[in-house]
Amino acid sequence: MKKICYIVAMRAEARPFIEEFQLHEVKDYFAPYPFILYQGTVGQMELSVVLNGEQHGSDLVGCEAASITTYAAIERLHPDLVINSGTCGAFKADGAKIADIYIGNAVMFHDRRVPGDDAWGTQALGNYPLWSQSEALAEVLAFKIGKVTTGSSLDMQPIDLEIIRSNGGQLKDMEAAAIAFTCSLTHTPLLLVKSVTDLCDGGEKTFEEFSKNLSAASQALRVANTRIIYYLAEHCCQ
Ligand code: ADE
Repeated sequence: MKKICYIVAMRAEARPFIEEFQLHEVKDYFAPYPFILYQGTVGQMELSVVLNGEQHGSDLVGCEAASITTYAAIERLHPDLVINSGTCGAFKADGAKIADIYIGNAVMFHDRRVPGDDAWGTQALGNYPLWSQSEALAEVLAFKIGKVTTGSSLDMQPIDLEIIRSNGGQLKDMEAAAIAFTCSLTHTPLLLVKSVTDLCDGGEKTFEEFSKNLSAASQALRVANTRIIYYLAEHCCQ
């Protein structure tokens, strides 16, 4: 593995490890699109971090931005591995705590309700493949593992909860399945690294809890990604 490429939605989620690795911004690399590229090297490995960029003064989040950023990053950078690093909601009932790090061992959409236990229903849920070494990496670095479920909203309606839990979902985000969809089309392995900002069953208001914990969760992502990057540089890069 010689090239890894992170896809990150929010600057706050990426900044701590961009600074840790002293990555430099490659100005206008994706112009006229808003995606932003940071790059550096770790040993023999090329490390890229691609942010969605912003619109109307806020970071672009959600599935549409995630899909198109990932597509552009893969087409231009040809990474051997894509890593989506970001924050998520999780469940107290599963033992999750704020700023816990999880590696995704499965990924699906939870808010694309196309009826039936048929081909459309299967397509809607997604259940895309992830990097075959995801669980092994989690084990060797002692991270928790869980199924990531993606939707287009930060809040959670009762129907979302029902679909998430009836499909074994544990980590709720707004990008992972869209990135996984793009990676599946391009046959690019994908690793998911998620840090918990809020507890979906904790009784607090999601946005307030997310905002309060964003900084701590992003620092946890820095620590986790530092370990992951050095591990990959040492063990997977020849
Ligand atoms: N990102 C962080 N927390 C989230 C949540 N509860 N739902 C969707 N995306 C999130």
